[in-house]
Amino acid sequence: MKPVAVLAVLGLILGVCHAHTYHLGECPTVEPQSDFNMKQFLGLWYVIQKTSTSSKCLIYNITQSPDEPNQYRIEQTNPIPGVGKPYHYTGELTVPIPSVPAKMTAKFPLSLAGSADYTVFLTDYTTYAGIFTCQKLPLSNRHSATILSRTKSLDKIYVEKLKSTLSAANVNPFDLSIIDQSGCPKDYDSGIYIHKDTFSAHNIAGAIRNGSESVGNGVETVLDKAGSVGSTAGKVGGKLYDWIV
Ligand SMILES: *[C@@H]1O[C@H](CO)[C@@H](O)[C@H](O)[C@H]1NC(C)=O
Ligand SMILES: *[C@@H]1O[C@H](CO)[C@@H](O)[C@H](O)[C@H]1NC(C)=O
Repeated sequence: MKPVAVLAVLGLILGVCHAHTYHLGECPTVEPQSDFNMKQFLGLWYVIQKTSTSSKCLIYNITQSPDEPNQYRIEQTNPIPGVGKPYHYTGELTVPIPSVPAKMTAKFPLSLAGSADYTVFLTDYTTYAGIFTCQKLPLSNRHSATILSRTKSLDKIYVEKLKSTLSAANVNPFDLSIIDQSGCPKDYDSGIYIHKDTFSAHNIAGAIRNGSESVGNGVETVLDKAGSVGSTAGKVGGKLYDWIV
């Protein structure tokens, strides 16, 4: 696939919004976890449920940024069905108000709409966590909720606890889709990496080409099989878009 075609597909993807819902008015107020300790929150999380997504095997790896004390990285990884190799999409989390560490700001390289609020609203650090993200738009907002687990499944008790916290903040907990964590790759290394240092509008096609030949071919195969670029963007986009906060 020519770089221009890759860009066209990505352009369409960016126009599609799978992992959020749009609402009129201001962002709902979801209270951040009190006495939050980011150090304990770092590491690997399995995404158990997330607003309107069709993703499978989505994992987050949250690490301390080597550059800044109050800056973190979140690497979101999921395999694209039929392609095999995973995509890795890394965003930056910052803490604008040091006294409220659970209320962060997330910035992802492909997010044209800019940064979003990124709030950890409930976690015990060792079992479950709930994240609420919201982006202010003119007269409206788009938001998404995510339920995380340290293991590949999460006891219903915690899922209900997180959902009732969302309900209490007037966020509809029934928008959440279940993310299948079974039959996932054992090895998430390799594949395509997109982060702020390697990504720009100019080199995205290069990044995809560099990722691996098989990923490039996989995307091409999907493109060949689909009747139109639009439906390809729909299929590939459903997966890629889950990265975008
Ligand atoms: C998370 O990312 C860090 C830094 O890139 C890496 O060293 C670590 O192995 C990753 N952990 C997992 C579980 O992938
Ligand atoms: C792709 O790989 C080449 C050679 O290794 C490198 O010079 C280039 O910066 C890479 N491009 C991207 C976008 O990662």
